Amino acid sequence: PVNLRNRNFLKLLDYTPTEIQFLLDLSMSLKKAKYAGTEQHKLSGKNIALIFEKSSTRTRCAFEAAAYDQGAHVTYLGPTGSQIGAKESMKDTARVLGRMYDGIEYRGFGQEVVEELGKYAGVPVWNGLTNEFHPTQILADFLTMMEHTDKPLSKVKFAYVGDARNNMGNSLMIGAAKMGMDFRGIAPISVQPTEELVNQANEIAKETGATITITDDVAEGVKDVDFIYTDVWVSMGEPEEVWKERIELLKPYQVNMDMINKTGNPNVKFMHCLPAFHNRETKIGEDVFQKFGIEAMEVTDDVFESKHSVVFDEAENRMHTIKAVMVATLGQ
Ligand code: CP
Ligand code: NVA
Repeated sequence: PVNLRNRNFLKLLDYTPTEIQFLLDLSMSLKKAKYAGTEQHKLSGKNIALIFEKSSTRTRCAFEAAAYDQGAHVTYLGPTGSQIGAKESMKDTARVLGRMYDGIEYRGFGQEVVEELGKYAGVPVWNGLTNEFHPTQILADFLTMMEHTDKPLSKVKFAYVGDARNNMGNSLMIGAAKMGMDFRGIAPISVQPTEELVNQANEIAKETGATITITDDVAEGVKDVDFIYTDVWVSMGEPEEVWKERIELLKPYQVNMDMINKTGNPNVKFMHCLPAFHNRETKIGEDVFQKFGIEAMEVTDDVFESKHSVVFDEAENRMHTIKAVMVATLGQ
């Protein structure tokens, strides 16, 4: 039997395939219970701190809604207003918050910061996104895949296209390796995952039967896949100067109908962790669109709004999967 009580959730590398599957199955049963109105409080009286050094809609709201559904209380600590980072080290912050809270979520910059928090807090710490990894997002993505295919995860083929060296590219590759999937990371060489991480993924793949392909060839990479996944071309915390070169570099990796057709799978599903730049008319990202004279970035609106798109199922599943992480590590 799997027991995750008091464990941190910092990166998928720390979890076995069985533990990951356990979290996915728990997510599914919590989701069913919520829909049926039979949810039981497993986090009554627990206090949860949510530290966000970067912006968030989904992750913050998922933690808050999940905590309330389960009878817990939350405190939100935003990018400003606390002593974190300015006047107090993470090591000290960890030991303070650990005295008041039963669990701590952290979104920030370097992975080493959340690792430090996890080392000293004395209560479960959950990674809500770092520059390197976004593990709670992957649980939502895999739950969404389970819901949109009849195959077990180990038979799923999927392509991640775009900036494959960011938190999403890294975590999806490791998650796929753990779950024995056929993963294609499709990106130009300069934004492919580091050799070190690819080697780690391949080591895991030897045990799980996963296939890890890293290529800059879109046609070859997307052939026959069940899912195409992309993310923004420039991530939070990156300097504005990178936009120009990233757009030049990643234009051929935009998810559009042509790429969807290249899969040869009429039922292929489109995924994105969101937020996405897909529709110029919304004026979101207009400064970038205008400056570089482009009409769409990582995904075109016709794909985003098409029958292929499952992005809002993914967004909803952030809540059910984050709930599972909290219940498994902290629940009574
Ligand atoms: N996908 C995701 O993490 O979204 P937020 O930045 O809104 O939390
Ligand atoms: N790669 C993106 C993911 C956002 C959920 C970022 O870090 O900004």
